[in-house]
Order: sequence, then C-alpha cells, then structure tokens
Amino acid sequence: MLNFTLFDTIKIVVFFSFLRYNDKRIGDLMKVCVIGGAGYIGSHTVYELIRAGHEVVVIDNLSSGKREMVHKEAKFYFGDITDKNILDQIFAVECQKKPFDVVMHFAAKLIVPESLEQPLEYYKNNVEGVRTMLEVMVNHNIKNVVFSSTAAVYGEVGGDGICTEDAETKPINPYGETKLASEQMIKWVCKAYDMHYCIFRYFNVGGADESLEIGLDKDNITALIPRIVESTLRIKDNFTIYGTDYDTEDGTCIRDYVHVTDLAKAHILGAEYIINNRQSLLCNLGSNNGYSVQEVVNKAGKLKEFKYNYGPKRAGDPAKVIASNTKAKELLGWKPKYDLDDMLKSDYDFRKKLKNEKK
Ligand SMILES: NC(=O)c1ccc[n+]([C@@H]2O[C@H](COP(=O)([O-])OP(=O)(O)OC[C@H]3O[C@@H](n4cnc5c(N)ncnc54)[C@H](O)[C@@H]3O)[C@@H](O)[C@H]2O)c1
Repeated sequence: MLNFTLFDTIKIVVFFSFLRYNDKRIGDLMKVCVIGGAGYIGSHTVYELIRAGHEVVVIDNLSSGKREMVHKEAKFYFGDITDKNILDQIFAVECQKKPFDVVMHFAAKLIVPESLEQPLEYYKNNVEGVRTMLEVMVNHNIKNVVFSSTAAVYGEVGGDGICTEDAETKPINPYGETKLASEQMIKWVCKAYDMHYCIFRYFNVGGADESLEIGLDKDNITALIPRIVESTLRIKDNFTIYGTDYDTEDGTCIRDYVHVTDLAKAHILGAEYIINNRQSLLCNLGSNNGYSVQEVVNKAGKLKEFKYNYGPKRAGDPAKVIASNTKAKELLGWKPKYDLDDMLKSDYDFRKKLKNEKK
C-alpha cells in the first residue's frame, strides 16, 4: 500500500503546480489571423508576433500591401475580406486542427481625400469588410478580435488638443466615419455573441522595423514623417508646411507620433489582455507628447539638410492633437520605447535602402 509522507505530498503539489505553470506558458502562444498583414502596420505586427513565437496566418488582397512584406514564417492567403466564401474556406481549413485564438484586422482603405471622393468604396471595404469578418468569426466560434482604429474618429479636436478615449467622437470625413461605424459594429457583435474586442485608436505612425526588411513602402505617401524623409532624400518635391499662424509656440500644427514597432507590440499585449481577462478594451496608442511640424522638419534636417516651403493652412487641420496614452499604460503595461528621432532615423534608413535598391 502507498504511504505518503507530508514531504511526498508537498513534492506532488509542487510538481503539478510546475506542470500547470508550464501549461499556461505553452498556452500563451497564440494562433493569430492577421487580415491586412501585408500592409505597413500589419506586416510589423506579424514580425513581432513571429519574434515572440506565435503562429501567424495572413490574409490580404494586396490592394495596398506587398507579398514580400509578409514574414517568411507566416502562412499567406491571397483573399479579400469582403468575400465571405473565401474567408469561410480559409477559416475552415485553418481552424480544423487549432482554431484562431484571435483575429487582428488592419485591412482598411485609409486615404482621407480619396474617402471624400469614393465614400461607397470606403464603406464597402472598411465596413462591409469588418461585417463579413465578424460573421465568419461567429460561424467558426472565434472569440477575440483586435481592431485598428484611428484618431480620425475624434474629428475636430478642440481645447487643449489632448484626446482621452471618452472624448466625443465626431468624424469629419468618410474614412473616420467608416472606422467609427466598424468600432460600433464590433462592440454590438461582441456583446451579442460573448466575444471580446480590443480596439486601438492610433495617432500618427512612423518608423520602420530595425531589420529594415519592412517599412512604409508605397507610391503615394501622405503621412508626415515619410513625406519629410522623401524630401530629404530628394525622392519627392520639397516638403510644404501648411499653416504658420496656429495658436502654438512656433505657429505650426502639433501632432503625436508613435513608432510602428511600438504599435505592433501593443497588439500582442492587447490580444493577451482580452484573452486572459475575458474583457474588452478600447484605448489610444500614442506617445502622450506633441511635436510641431516645424520641430519634425528641424529634426529631419539634422539627418540631412533639405529645402522646404511654407503654404497656407488647410481646412480641417486642428492646431493640436495629442493622444492620452494613460489607459494603454495602465491596463496593458504598454510604454513606447522609441521616440521621434528613432522614427525619423529608421524611416530614413529604410527609404535610403529602397532608393538604392531601385537604382
Ligand atoms: N498608417 C497610419 O498612419 C494609420 C493611422 C491610424 C489608423 N490606421 C489604421 O491601421 C490599419 C492599417 O493601416 P496601414 O497603414 O498598415 O495601411 P496599409 O494600406 O499599409 O495596409 C492595409 C492592408 O490591408 C490590405 N487590405 C485592404 N483592403 C483589404 C481587403 N478588402 N481585403 C484584404 N486585404 C485588404 C491591403 O492590401 C494592405 O496590405 C488601417 O485599418 C488604418 O485605418 C493607420
């Protein structure tokens, strides 16, 4: 007959606790579906997921993304998120052995002037795309979704320019409207089907992966940091600073900038948060710091001297927009590692590499 001493019992308890601890660590590795993973922010998120050991499946229609931006270790499916049949087939194949722990959505059109000219296209791609994704997730019993939203949902930012998540949402263009409509749909669907969401509202994104294998690689760039860098490298015409009489110290607009790798890492924290806590979350991702356009231009000038112009104010450009990132810091323990200098430098190095490759 077995005779257990107290010491044996303690050893057994410690052994099983160790097993459970190890189980949990193994369970922490996620199977992630990244829709729009061939684009700028999606591809960086895929790199960080792979670096952290997660299993990644990318779905992308390559409308603005590039196949070569997808990490070699991620599985790639060419497909459009508005096509329910394709999405259903991919989910059926992928979820047979191991279902996705989470779906991350980056698959949007995001050029504001274009959204004013083609609102129907924007509603179809951005809103119908999210609706189809959610329907397929429900069909396959996938419970967690991380969604890329934007500061554009806040619209005109008045007062001190600092946006907290409870600020009023009043988009001023179809792009912002489609992202807000998607946010709302995600909330209702998650409530109805016992799912969890993590919605991130990004501010101005910049920088490139430290490997320089990926970065923002597009023809018609509108984002401030790469536009300035293109000017320093003489890839495009001289950069223009619009407006010099805003109510700011140097008269130019103030914005909040966040490095794409910091954003990518936040997505992993966000997914882990909603899975582990079975709770939804909406938060800003920004640096909590404002830099004027003139300051960004001056910093870029230190990398390489370049010529720039001044132009008149543009309609709808608020004087100051800064993200409050307290919520992301408190709930996710997220803290941006990179600053504006890092963003400019890595974008500069990436763009220089691209320019040399195209010679
Ligand atoms: N880049 C920014 O500064 C910024 C700021 C705020 C919010 N966001 C949000 O972040 C997300 C990603 O932005 P990004 O800068 O990486 O854009 P991006 O254009 O580089 O990436 C979008 C990716 O989604 C794919 N895609 C688009 N429509 C699709 C569809 N119907 N089916 C399948 N794939 C599709 C594109 O091919 C591309 O690979 C967007 O949702 C955007 O609203 C971006």
